[in-house]
Amino acid sequence: MRRVLVTGGNGGIGRAVCQGFQDQGDTVLAADLPEHDVRDAGALAALMADFRPNVLVALAGGSLGTPRDEYTQEDLDLVLDVNVKGTLNAVREAARHMTAGDAIVTCTSIGARQPSPVTGAPYAAAKAAIGGLTRKFARDLGARGIRVNAVAPGLFLTGRLQGMFDDLAEAERREVLDAIPLGRMPELREIVDPILFLASDAASYITGITLDVNGGRYLPL
Ligand SMILES: NC(=O)c1ccc[n+]([C@@H]2O[C@H](COP(=O)([O-])OP(=O)(O)OC[C@H]3O[C@@H](n4cnc5c(N)ncnc54)[C@H](O)[C@@H]3O)[C@@H](O)[C@H]2O)c1
Repeated sequence: MRRVLVTGGNGGIGRAVCQGFQDQGDTVLAADLPEHDVRDAGALAALMADFRPNVLVALAGGSLGTPRDEYTQEDLDLVLDVNVKGTLNAVREAARHMTAGDAIVTCTSIGARQPSPVTGAPYAAAKAAIGGLTRKFARDLGARGIRVNAVAPGLFLTGRLQGMFDDLAEAERREVLDAIPLGRMPELREIVDPILFLASDAASYITGITLDVNGGRYLPL
């Protein structure tokens, strides 16, 4: 039985991920607002020291209600602080208490892998930074037997995003679906299972990768 800490664990993907680990018999802590703010590095350090996770899934983030185009400096700070600093601090503080066999999964986005019509430049920058810090921590923590990988979800219609998708014109919705080789929107379990996999011993020789989970919409070589 492992101790699994999921930042953003009360979100659309987060709740499903917590359930997935619970179903495996793991002890799960959902670290989310208002009790747990990943922007508070000191509180994160105390939380990690207390819980001592074997697995960290760092999901806290997103566009956080900021506009795609007419964003303010405060919006930019919010998106970078939660996504980048929040992920970096969570990974750093969790890793202090981890040992060989433990694993970390961060969350970037298709919006960092290719330009997205849905999200803005702050989100693209933040999620690209998460890809960078994931590789750096994988390199540094490898010698201790701790693996660090990222998932890059395509569009998963969790609450807020369902609304954004529904607000698109029919032609835009068609364009989104036409760009997905599998030709359909995903189910939530289709991001949960890849995260469970990366956190498991089945992925024991995989570290530093970004696993694209997008129905083939982004196809790197
Ligand atoms: N849903 C998608 O299509 C999609 C696509 C690509 C990437 N992602 C990424 O997946 C992750 C989860 O997305 P989601 O769709 O579940 O979104 P969501 O908004 O439902 O969940 C995000 C969670 O993060 C929490 N959070 C926000 N600020 C926080 C803070 N300062 N401290 C702690 N928790 C905080 C929120 O309260 C929320 O519960 C995000 O990082 C998002 O960028 C989602």
